[in-house]
Formats: sequence, structure tokens, C-alpha cells
Amino acid sequence: MQRYSRIAIFLHWAIAALLAFQIAVGWALEDLGARGFALFQLHKSIGISILLLTLARIAVRYWKPRPAPAERGWQGALAKAVHAGLYLFMLGAPLTGWALVSTAKVKVPTLIFGTIPLPHLPLPMGAHELAEGGHSLIVWIGIALFALHVAGALRHHFLMGDGLLWRMIPARSPVLLAALPALIAVGFVLGRVVLPEPAPQVAVAPVTLAAVEKEAPANVAEAMDNAANAAAPAEADNAMAAEEPVGPPPSWAVQPGGTIGFSVGNSGETISGGFSKWTAKIAMDPDHPDSADIRVEIDLASASVGDSYKDGMLAGDEFFGVAAHPKAVFTAKGAEKTGANSYRAAGTLTLKGVSKPQSIRFTLSGTGKARKVSGSAIIARAPFGVGNGESSTGLDPKVAVSFGFSAQAE
Ligand code: HEM
Ligand code: HEM
Repeated sequence: MQRYSRIAIFLHWAIAALLAFQIAVGWALEDLGARGFALFQLHKSIGISILLLTLARIAVRYWKPRPAPAERGWQGALAKAVHAGLYLFMLGAPLTGWALVSTAKVKVPTLIFGTIPLPHLPLPMGAHELAEGGHSLIVWIGIALFALHVAGALRHHFLMGDGLLWRMIPARSPVLLAALPALIAVGFVLGRVVLPEPAPQVAVAPVTLAAVEKEAPANVAEAMDNAANAAAPAEADNAMAAEEPVGPPPSWAVQPGGTIGFSVGNSGETISGGFSKWTAKIAMDPDHPDSADIRVEIDLASASVGDSYKDGMLAGDEFFGVAAHPKAVFTAKGAEKTGANSYRAAGTLTLKGVSKPQSIRFTLSGTGKARKVSGSAIIARAPFGVGNGESSTGLDPKVAVSFGFSAQAE
């Protein structure tokens, strides 16, 4: 039995599995809105990879010998037409996808696998509807062709008994005969598995600037007291340290369900939102906060204000510029006690490539190995270049950030 070259076979199944993944993810994208930002990036990255793999496959088709057509007559012509249709689908799906993002009102930048920027195609904005309609229609055409293609292959293999399937299997192994087509199902299932969970339900009381500022004067007075008394407590701490050596501060694992929210006034109304993806590395002994080591990384692409149009703008250069700076990072070494359970950590916030001093306040509740943390910060957005464009003229200069999560000592 003559078979396709190994490279043609590899590309055939790899592209088929990736397409199944793409379709599973694509169908979910619209409902995800901003929570799916990272997934949009993945969908676009894999889509462009499929485009490149298909171009490679077409090159291989002319470069490597192929088995002679299995059938002549109208069935042979139909098989050929279906193959041609499948090639058009493999090229058309990514091209319409690329066209639709290139003509969207909000130009969300695409970074292929987080590294290579994908330029926008120079197409008129008016082509958007067509590209969008084409992108979803072509998938259904592809699925219909796929059904015909599989029916034809099975007809040959089983009804006509000519073992045609072996031509697309690299060795005469029944395991591969079952496993390679099964990759398509695996691709589809993976596409469902990677979808994010529904939005976390653990809500932090919405923070407003007024609330944070109301809390601030007391803290400021306290902070000044602390500064005045700085020498004395430091000595006391040292004395204690001498008596009772303090081990390295315990690390705390942030438990799922935590939230980081933000709110900012905009021409009289308040815009509130949150980040669904962030991580925090915290080492802190609540009794010796000076040894605290805090690092919080926020995936800016996960910012959402619950409106996909505005979320697209948040990702753009006027606000977070996620393509160039996907993460905001807050680090602090050491925290100070400002009350029985409350603390202040003066650290550094790096956002959009700018690093500035930034302090946060937080309180701890609970005892032992499980604590609840809640806190806030006021961030002046201008030094970070967040909201530096036309649509930000009504936006307040200060943004209130709140966070709440549970942490478990490790
Ligand atoms: C290569 C194969 C691709 C397949 C099979 C595919 C499949 C899909 C599917 C099934 C949808 C849902 C459409 C609907 O019914 O509303 C979708 C949506 C989407 N795709 Fe793709 N896609 C591919 C490549 C791409 C590429 C390369 C891009 C961009 C560079 C892209 C961008 C998008 C976007 C932005 C949406 C959401 C559209 C909307 O909100 O209406 N896709 N895709
Ligand atoms: C379970 C699914 C699949 C099976 C069993 C299957 C099987 C086969 C077989 C046996 C051939 C060789 C036909 C011959 O020698 O005449 C073939 C060729 C081909 N398949 Fe598939 N296939 C599947 C899925 C797909 C998918 C999803 C696509 C693309 C979207 C695709 C695109 C093609 C193309 C374009 C060719 C023609 C190769 C050429 O000669 O240029 N197949 N397939």
C-alpha cells in the first residue's frame, strides 16, 4: 500500500486536531467577553499557526510524491473537490479571523503566543461584518466537508474494503489507526477544558474612592505616629529578635476565589471592574511584618468592567497596553503594623513599563494557618500613562483598588 509521506500525514492530523480545538474555543469566545481575553489570544495564535501549517502542507503536497487517486469517475472528482474545499477551509478560516480582528472598531493587539505581534491587515473597516459572518459560516462549511470527507474515507476503507485509511496512517498499526482520528476528538475536548470557569462568586465589598479616603486620615495620623516613634519600636523589635530568633517568615498560598477590584469615577458615574487572573507570592509573619516579602502579578489582559467593548479598550494602548506590558507587578519588602490587625506595605508598582512607589493597606483576620486578607490602595493613574487618550478626559486621576482573598500557611 502506497501512503502519504510522513510529513504530509503529520500535518494532516495535526491540523485536523488543531481545527477541532479552534472550533471548540471559537464557539465559546463570544460568551466569555473579557474573561476570555487570554483565550482570544490563544485562539488567534493557534489560528495563525494553522494558517502557516496549511501553507507548509500545500508546499509538501507538491514536493513529496502522493499516492495515485483511489478512485476515478464522479466519486473521484467528488473526493478531489472535497479535498480542495477542505484546503479552502483551512486557509479561509484563519484569514477571515485575521480580517475580522483587523477591521474591528476596537483594535485589540494580538501577540502570537505572547511573543510575536500580529500586524492588522490593511482592510477597510466596512469589511468587518463580512469577515465576521464569513468566519462563522466557513466553519460550518468546513464541518460539512469534513463529514463528507470522513464518510468517503470510511466507505472506501470498510465498505469497499480497500484499506484507504492506511494511506493517512504512518505505519500499519491498529493503535495508530484509532489514535490519529481520535486526536480530533481530543482537540475538541481540550478546547472545552481550557475555557475559564464562570466568574468567581466570592465578592469583595465594592470599594469606592470615598471609602478608601475616609479610612485614610486615621491611617495617615497613625503612620505619622509610627514615624515619630520609629526609633523606640525598632529597638524593642531588635531586643526581641535577640531573645527569640525569628525564623524565615511563613509563605502563604493564596486560595482560589480571591478578587482584585478597581473603581474610578468617570464624568460623575463610577466604573467598577476587576482582574480575573493574578497571582501573589506572600511571605509574612503577622507578628514580624518587617520581614514580609510580597509580590503580586496581575494579568492585565484579564481586566474587565463587564462590557466587552470597554474591556477591549482597557487592553489597548490608551489604558493598559497589554501587548507590550501584559502584567502589572507590585512588590514590597517589609510591612508595618498600623493597628491590631492592620498593616501597610510600602512597595513598588510596575505598570505599563513604569515603576513608582506605591503603598497598600490591608487587614488580616483569622488565626493560625488560615487567614483572610482584605485591603485597598489608591493609585494615581497618570504617572503610569493609564488613560492617556481622548476617551479618558472625564476619568478621575485616582483609581481605588480593593482586594480580598484567603491565604493558607504552607
Ligand atoms: C484557523 C482556524 C480558525 C477556526 C476554525 C476558527 C473558528 C472560530 C469559530 C467557530 C468562532 C465562533 C464564530 C461564531 O459562530 O460566532 C470563532 C470566533 C472568533 N475567531 Fe476564529 N477561528 C480560526 C482562526 C482565527 C484567527 C486566525 C483569528 C484572528 C487572528 C480568529 C479570531 C476570532 C475572533 C476574534 C472570534 C470572535 C468573533 C466574534 O466575536 O464574533 N480566529 N473562530
Ligand atoms: C476522522 C477524520 C479524518 C479521516 C479518517 C481522514 C482520512 C483521510 C484519508 C484516508 C486521506 C487520503 C485520501 C486518499 O488517499 O485519497 C485524507 C486526505 C485528506 N484529508 Fe483527511 N481525514 C480526516 C480528517 C480531515 C480533516 C479534519 C481535514 C481538514 C480539515 C482533512 C483534510 C484532508 C485533505 C485536504 C486530504 C487530501 C490530501 C491531498 O491529497 O492533498 N482530513 N484524509
